[in-house]
Amino acid sequence: MQNTNIYILAIESSCDDTSCAVFCNATVLSNITANQAIHQQYGGVVPELASRDHQKNIIPVIDAALKKAAITLQQLHAIAVTRGPGLLGSLLVGLSTAKSLALALRIPIIEVNHMHGHIMAHFIKDESETPAPPFPFLCLTVSGGHTQLINVTNYLTFELLGETIDDAVGEAFDKAAKLLGLPYPGGPLIDKHAALGNPLRFQFANAKIEQLNYSFSGIKTSFLYFIQNHLQKNPNFVTENLNDICASYQAHLINALLKNVRKALQQKQIRHLAIAGGVSANSELRQQVKNLETELGIKTYIPKLEYCTDNAAMIGVTAYYKYLNRDFSDMNLTPLTHYAI
Ligand code: KG4
Ligand code: ZN
Repeated sequence: MQNTNIYILAIESSCDDTSCAVFCNATVLSNITANQAIHQQYGGVVPELASRDHQKNIIPVIDAALKKAAITLQQLHAIAVTRGPGLLGSLLVGLSTAKSLALALRIPIIEVNHMHGHIMAHFIKDESETPAPPFPFLCLTVSGGHTQLINVTNYLTFELLGETIDDAVGEAFDKAAKLLGLPYPGGPLIDKHAALGNPLRFQFANAKIEQLNYSFSGIKTSFLYFIQNHLQKNPNFVTENLNDICASYQAHLINALLKNVRKALQQKQIRHLAIAGGVSANSELRQQVKNLETELGIKTYIPKLEYCTDNAAMIGVTAYYKYLNRDFSDMNLTPLTHYAI
């Protein structure tokens, strides 16, 4: 049997991070990301500005990733790229760059669903030798655009058990942060202030949702009214209570997330739980998921911080398993702003 190493270059540009990674099989050799600070002043990602920055950053980021990996373009076996979901203009920059490289190098192109990538972050091999979850496992994928509960049965197969019917939990973090006067993305700042506050101080509305689905739009609105009501009585309410507000709101969101996680673990009789996506960087969520090990007697898997938020390493590792399956795309590949997992 031939025992060749497979080298893959992966590109991720679905939102506001331009990222490139180089892989040798499932091992990451480099993973370089250029973040876009420009959106901070607008309180959210401005799609047109995001695509312009991707255009500016993508070649330098690819060059840096190849250099760090000490791999040349000629050594590559495939180019991987995020096809969606994401912003059209942002995806187009990654996709057209990937196509140009694949055509010029006469190697296959492999498209990756961004949400699949988030889950696959658990299979990235690096120097840390973090154990990967065994199949089947339950994955709570929480990001700026998605909130999903997935039964992962293999590298390339899964069953969607539930998802948000409106806003994602990341959006609920970011919009609340904006109301509190915190810059975008507000999730990490809520996390920081929450660590210093009392999570039991304030209460918010609960969403009543069927089965294993989620809803965060009502919680967001309840937060808006809560802030408005208090500000009418005390204009300094936010500044005087910022840490307690963040801690209570964050605790409310995490309770909502974990309620369905417990239900799904029970219903499916799954003993392994993973979290993925940008919100899985939240320190309280990470701690509470870890606590489920003793509460429920299960094993939990929490990704390294660098693989939680958007990165090309998660796209590269997914592409490696697709490569083994000869799952290549053709050059007519178009971006998908909505792309079901
Ligand atoms: O996966 P991601 O980088 O991009 C999308 O695919 O959307 O997730 C971004 C989301 C943002 O909503 C951001 O506020 C949130 O992840 N996030 C956090 C934390 N770090 C990132 N939310 C809460 N606590 C954090 N520490
Ligand atoms: Zn993401």
